[in-house]
This record gives sequence, C-alpha cells and structure tokens, in this order.
Amino acid sequence: MSQIRAAITGIQGYVPDYILTNAELEKMVDTNDEWITARTGIKERHILKGEGLGTSHMAAEAVKGLLAKTHTAPEEVDLLICATTTPDFIFPSTANLICDMVGIKSIGSFDIQAACSGFVYALTVGSQFIETGKYKKVIIVGADKMSAIVDYTDRTTCVLFGDGAGAVMLEPNTEGFGIIDSIIRSDGAGQPFLNQKAGGSRYPPTHETIDKRWHYAYQDGPSVFKFAVTNMADVAAEIMERNHLTGDDVAWLVPHQANKRIISATANRMKVGMDKVMLNIQKYGNTTAATIPLCLWDYESQLNKGDNLILAAFGGGFTWGSVYVKWGY
Ligand code: ACO
Repeated sequence: MSQIRAAITGIQGYVPDYILTNAELEKMVDTNDEWITARTGIKERHILKGEGLGTSHMAAEAVKGLLAKTHTAPEEVDLLICATTTPDFIFPSTANLICDMVGIKSIGSFDIQAACSGFVYALTVGSQFIETGKYKKVIIVGADKMSAIVDYTDRTTCVLFGDGAGAVMLEPNTEGFGIIDSIIRSDGAGQPFLNQKAGGSRYPPTHETIDKRWHYAYQDGPSVFKFAVTNMADVAAEIMERNHLTGDDVAWLVPHQANKRIISATANRMKVGMDKVMLNIQKYGNTTAATIPLCLWDYESQLNKGDNLILAAFGGGFTWGSVYVKWGY
C-alpha cells in the first residue's frame, strides 16, 4: 500500500462582523492610514464584540461550517486541535470548549501554543495521527481574539492585529495528495521581543501587573521584523530545496500575514511572483493562528488539485515553520 498522507479535505473560516478601519484607529491613537498601509499593508481588521464571547466562539463557528461543508457528523471526528495564543481560559483548553459547542463528544482535544506559527505547528502535529493510520478525521483550528490582549493606547501594536478563526479537515489519502513535508522550529531566547508578560505563572495578575500593562501583548517591532524576514524566508526556502521544488513548481505561497513587507521578502527569496502569494492582510490584519487558514478559505475557489502550496509562518517564542501541501481537491 502506498504511503498514507494527511490531505486537507475542507476549509472554513469565520471573522466577526465588526470592522475596525484605519480611519477609526486614527481617532484612537496618533497614527494615520498612510503609515499603516505603507509599513504593514493593513487597511482594516475584524473585531469580536459581545459580552462573554471568546476565541472559542469564532472557532466553533468555523468548525460548524466545516462539518456542514464536508458532510461530517460530529461523532465521526477523531481528534480536534486548536492553535491559539488567546485561549478563553488558562484552562480548560479552547479545543475542549469548541468540541462541546459543536456537539463533538469524548474525543481527544487540546490546544497548541506557538503564537503566529500555531497553525503550522498544529497541522504538523495533527497530520501525524493520520499518517500513522490511527485516525481518519482530524480537525485543525487556528483561532485568535487578539483584541483581548491588544493595548488600544499603544500605536505600535494596536494597528497590527485582528480577530478571526479558520478550520481544516484532515483525512487519509494514498494518492500522493496532502501534507508532504513540514518543518517546525523555535528559539525561546526570543521571549523578550514578543510576549504577554502577565497572567501566567511567572507574573500572576495583580494590580501592579495591570498598572504596568503587562497583561497586553508587547512587541519590539523592528527586532521581530529582522528575525521574521530571515527565518520565514529561510524555512520556506529549506522546505522547497529538500523537496526539489523551484519557484516555478510552487502554485501558491501561503504566508503568515504579519506584515506585507515580510511576505514580499519571503516570496522574493523563494523566487515566487507576488501573483502566486495569498494575501488578505489588508482586510483582516494579523489574526495570529488564524491567518493561514483564513488565506486558504479566501483563495479556496482558485486552488486546483495537485497544486503545490508552501505554508510559512513566524511568531512569538520565537517560533517558525513551513508546511508543503499538495492540494487534494
Ligand atoms: N503610526 C504612526 N507611526 C508609528 C506607528 C503607527 N501606528 N507605529 C510606530 N510608529 C513610528 C515609530 O514610533 C517610529 O517613529 P520614530 O522614527 O520617530 O521613532 C517610526 O514609526 C518607525 O517605527 P518602527 O517600529 O521602526 O517601524 P517599522 O518599519 O519597523 O514597522 C512594524 C513597525 C510594522 C511593527 C514592523 O516592525 C513589523 O511588522 N514587525 C514584525 C511583526 C511580526 O512579524 N510579528 C510576528 C508575529 S506577531 C505574534 O507572533 C503574536
């Protein structure tokens, strides 16, 4: 029997209704549309409003849509993994909550925390359960409510992030379609440059941590930018080289949407034209673990069976990684 690969057999995204435009941000902090557009490529982002609604709300909407679209009953699902940096709670996991919200009972479900590389990490982990033959239907979710940890008085971060969720179904394929290769990497020395300092066990929340605004996401933008440009481009180039792919062989680069300039640098390094790069940062901003599934969702109608896709991400940790997918439908 030929090798079992984990094929993506369905994709569904969800973004909340409320749109936060650059014009509205101009009224909140000292910024302007020209700066945001030129430095990041972002025009607007979606924000989840509503008392008591967390990341699981958006993720559950995406998963419900995915189940309907792939004609899957909740009881058929073997495993659900949620990549998120903004879980509803420290515990239980957001994956547990999502299963409960969509009627998936008594299966294994857990979260993966790898910041903006979360979806690439979760896809890599989830695919192993298919490739070994253990499971037949695995759902991978990337979801983040970044608005919950963004400081809307800090112009260096608040213009960048948005909320959203995306989910894919993984199923076995023995015809050569699916996840062909993946690379995941990390370097914890990146912690000072990109973090949310308080709320965990090192600095449990206190009045002092709140006063210091440590419960918000902190980013040293220029330092992260340098690491991101190098590592995202390197890892994408590495996965292409070891699978003997040239730029011409790649149908789509699916990059994490943190900054249009980082995306262009990665495409350049891969010798892939911008016409083959999935780009939706202009309408969603950086939705952390959700950027890559939201790209696949937006571009689904343009994908063809057999297309070579290179997914690439970079994020807090630092974490970075790349996945080579041969599209299966
Ligand atoms: N509006 C107007 N001016 C601003 C804004 C703003 N929103 N933000 C910063 N500036 C100013 C700065 O104060 C600075 O002014 P100064 O020169 O007078 O000091 C000037 O603009 C340039 O600031 P830089 O930070 O050097 O701008 P840069 O070109 O580096 O862009 C950005 C900043 C967009 C954050 C960029 O560094 C970046 O994209 N970094 C990487 C982001 C990323 O990849 N993150 C990883 C994923 S996130 C995760 O994992 C959760």
